[in-house]
Amino acid sequence: MSTVASLTRHTREIEQHLETLLPQGPLNAPTRYALLGGGKRLRPVLTVTTTELLGGRIEAAFDPACAIEMIHAYSLVHDDLPCMDDDDFRRGRPTLHRAFDEATAVLTGDLLATYPYQVIAEAPQLTSDQRIQLVRLLAVAAGGSGMIGGQRLDTLSEGKSISETALRAIHEAKTGALIACAVEFGGIIAGASNEQLAALRRYGHAIGLAFQIVDDILDVTASEAKHGTAASTDASRGMTTYVSLLGVEGAKSRAEEEIATAHHALSDLSLATSPLADLAQFILDRER
Ligand code: IPE
Ligand code: IPE
Ligand code: MG
Ligand code: MG
Ligand code: MG
Repeated sequence: MSTVASLTRHTREIEQHLETLLPQGPLNAPTRYALLGGGKRLRPVLTVTTTELLGGRIEAAFDPACAIEMIHAYSLVHDDLPCMDDDDFRRGRPTLHRAFDEATAVLTGDLLATYPYQVIAEAPQLTSDQRIQLVRLLAVAAGGSGMIGGQRLDTLSEGKSISETALRAIHEAKTGALIACAVEFGGIIAGASNEQLAALRRYGHAIGLAFQIVDDILDVTASEAKHGTAASTDASRGMTTYVSLLGVEGAKSRAEEEIATAHHALSDLSLATSPLADLAQFILDRER
């Protein structure tokens, strides 16, 4: 299967499921804007695909997969705010605080940061044990040592030059943790062994880091049309990125190394030629 086909195989069902989960109430319109306005759906696709490949029931994967996508959507709404990256465009249209207003963007982010835990806690297809494991895992991945902590370190590093080691730690936390969590979710839903979970984590962390390295590359190379955000916003904010440290080619090699690590982890799982291998390749080759 092609790398893009492996990505898009489940996206329609995921988007339909997101639609059914949309919370009603005074934030319905901005929540819809944040959640259903495009996006590659990489994280939920990883959860559903991993569940399927490890022999789990994919119907059980949609609630938790969409919960992760909600956390991701919230992280983007807050990331774009004037007090953070101050971006006016995302996915080819105005950011949420531009389309609505800042207070609405903060509150929509807040809602998309809390509601996912309700979704998992109420997921009818999971055992109570699985629900607790997933809630805990997501809280850790999104939390102070994961995504939120990474975003904090990212903002602190603005305008400073930092080492590759420090940058790697930021990337692993702000982006890698949630992507690795999406993969591990699939393992838990499918009832994977501890050994399998360890290999899934190796795969998830490697593609997660590669994903943010490629995001740094696309920030400078992609046209606005492709990427949906104004090009080279990182440089204008004085961010250290893999490209500012190593150049585009050097950054690409670092991403390739991570993808090789991901493929090794898949070999350990006997999934070397699976859609998860295609997804790793997609992360490297993607243009948006
Ligand atoms: C963008 O994530 C932000 C990062 C973590 C690098 P994606 O590139 O997955 O965003 P969408 O959901 O496809 O727009
Ligand atoms: C965003 O990183 C990471 C999170 C939102 C957690 P970036 O700030 O590089 O993402 P883009 O480039 O705005 O999508
Ligand atoms: Mg940012
Ligand atoms: Mg940003
Ligand atoms: Mg970026």
